[in-house]
Amino acid sequence: MPDPRVHDPAEREALMERVRRLLREQDAVLVAHYYTDDDLQLIAEETGGCVADSLEMARFGARHAATTLVVAGVRFMGETAKILNPEKRVLMPELGAECSLDLGCPAEEFVPFCDAHPDRTVVVYANTSAAVKARADWVVTSSIAVDVVRHLHQRGEKILWAPDRHLGRYVQDQTGADMLLWQGACVVHEAFQADLLRQVMAAHPEAAVLVHPESPEDVIALADVVGSTTQLIDAARRLSNDTFIVATDRGIFYKMKQAAPHKTFIEAPTGGAGATCVSCAHCPWMAMNGLRNLAAVLETGTNEITIDEDIRRRALRATQRMIDFRAGI
Ligand code: 13P
Ligand code: SF4
Repeated sequence: MPDPRVHDPAEREALMERVRRLLREQDAVLVAHYYTDDDLQLIAEETGGCVADSLEMARFGARHAATTLVVAGVRFMGETAKILNPEKRVLMPELGAECSLDLGCPAEEFVPFCDAHPDRTVVVYANTSAAVKARADWVVTSSIAVDVVRHLHQRGEKILWAPDRHLGRYVQDQTGADMLLWQGACVVHEAFQADLLRQVMAAHPEAAVLVHPESPEDVIALADVVGSTTQLIDAARRLSNDTFIVATDRGIFYKMKQAAPHKTFIEAPTGGAGATCVSCAHCPWMAMNGLRNLAAVLETGTNEITIDEDIRRRALRATQRMIDFRAGI
């Protein structure tokens, strides 16, 4: 896969300037995820856009007055922006930026699975297609999943959960809800290894361990804090430890270092390149976003997200519930 980062300082500055100008000219705002390239996070912040987890990306896009949202992340993030903002133009630097959870839960298989369990409330992770969201009762992200499922469990509802089996098991554990789990996984987080993590922890006994809940159960069991990307950054700022071992995509280090400049961040170990690790703590799809394709979409208007209107309306119901639930917390 080509490296999207721009290493030549002159080219980088020229691209940055082009992006700043185009964002202004196009009445556009950049909404970036923490896992994207540092340059994209920098320019999003600098130009009044946002760098956030998937829930806050959705909320920011819906609140902002710009008529074009440029979503630097993976496809489901662009689709969520369009579901919530049909009147806005939503562009992405790379439409081929997928997510293994989304790919592993095609609507043609998911819909009959739901139909076979009509007694269950369907809760899907945001990392799904618009067509899957259209079959759901609720959409959640990792930052809000436990709260939503606890609420549904307290109302006596049984849950059908998709697609991430690790996050689903974690939520089940935290809430005690009756959950039937789709068996999807994230290629990035699934590669973290508990036995290797224990070795790093032994070498850094002073460190706190921060884990994203898409990680396997035995890795989560070693965590001091389990949470969404924003919650992990907050923990890095809040905890008194000077060192952190972090089990999520390494793109998050840009913001963690900003949040706690004097602290040390260590990547949690994976099998390593050439072993079982497919992605080695960096999402291959997030990595498709760079300054060059960002400038190009702003210039050409290509890579616009479109969603069939009937699917969008149905997906909006479940997505809006998440936004409203968040507003009520
Ligand atoms: P967050 O909502 O925690 O940012 O997670 C999104 C994601 O894709 C993590 O892999
Ligand atoms: Fe999907 Fe995993 Fe990449 Fe997040 S890190 S976008 S869950 S493949």
